[in-house]
Amino acid sequence: MIIAGTGSALPTQVVTNDQLTEFLDTSDEWISTRTGIRTRHILGEEKLENLAAAAARSALEQSGVSPEELDFILCSSVYNDYMAPSMACIVQGLVGATCPAMDLNGACAGFIYALYTAQAYLKAGCRNILIVCAETPTKMVDWTNRATCVLFGDGAGAAVVRAGGEDLSFVLESQSRTEVLVGYNPPSNCPYTPHQPAAQPLFMNGQEVYKFAVSTATRGMQRLLAENGLTCDDIGHFVLHQANLRIVEAVRARMKQDKDKFPTNVERTGNTSSASALILLDELNRAGALQKGERIALSAFGAGLTAGAALLRWQL
Ligand code: UT7
Repeated sequence: MIIAGTGSALPTQVVTNDQLTEFLDTSDEWISTRTGIRTRHILGEEKLENLAAAAARSALEQSGVSPEELDFILCSSVYNDYMAPSMACIVQGLVGATCPAMDLNGACAGFIYALYTAQAYLKAGCRNILIVCAETPTKMVDWTNRATCVLFGDGAGAAVVRAGGEDLSFVLESQSRTEVLVGYNPPSNCPYTPHQPAAQPLFMNGQEVYKFAVSTATRGMQRLLAENGLTCDDIGHFVLHQANLRIVEAVRARMKQDKDKFPTNVERTGNTSSASALILLDELNRAGALQKGERIALSAFGAGLTAGAALLRWQL
């Protein structure tokens, strides 16, 4: 599978840590030292689907693949304005494609799960697949809860993948642990189902997620390297889910690598869920920071709990 083009889009509204102190008992000092985050982009008047379509158009343009040439659209989206149809179908219409389209929910690891799914579909006969990760976690949190709301931002990333090149290697993990990270939809008024859980914004045991993140990211990437007969020195860049700078730093320390091999953008974006690693990949791609032929290790983790790592060779 070859990544033939990438794209990303962030909302125009930027919110600083200091702005959060206007209504929360928090500080720029706490947020930046515990997470690295200084600003995040939050959807205001804009719609998530338009960000998703903008990211998709950029990826299509760079790939040289036209919307009519797409065989499938896979969209990773934990939460958006639509219960139905899928965000993938909305994006299909906005970019002018006609192929089948569907969503998947791998939480913050959704980009890796989408790549894994895309590789299987390419082997099943698809030639060009559009992956879109479009996320608005700022709508999932309680904005009176300082433990969660300061962590997130909105955004969309996209990649066009096509058949050819080397297969990507994957290590995926899922552990059903709703006691650690969970959010509930509002209850319906169906009279035959009286005892539904009340609506609950995102609940997170931060320290448990932290431990899971550092251990699975390190374990997943080390296993990928071992299975492919490689060492860290063979990897050009490690592109991790951007949830917390301390998590990236902890993984980097365990892998004993220089800072420049573990790029970050969480300082500017906050945690944009499954979009985060793809937005970072696009920023690196467009900054000319990725060398043709270099190996890239991707890693992400999230609710589920889910985790995924992937090893790819950059071909642009
Ligand atoms: O995509 C997956 C998303 N989730 C994650 O990546 C989360 C991973 N976990 C983390 O990143 C960290 O656990 C957090 C950044 C969420 C929290 O950092 P921590 O060092 O684990 O802090 P803590 O939860 O142990 O809280 C320490 C203190 C508490 O006060 P007390 O009990 O010591 O008095 C919290 O109430 O910090 C307090 N606190 C805050 N203070 C100021 C929690 N949130 C805030 C805040 N501002 N925003």
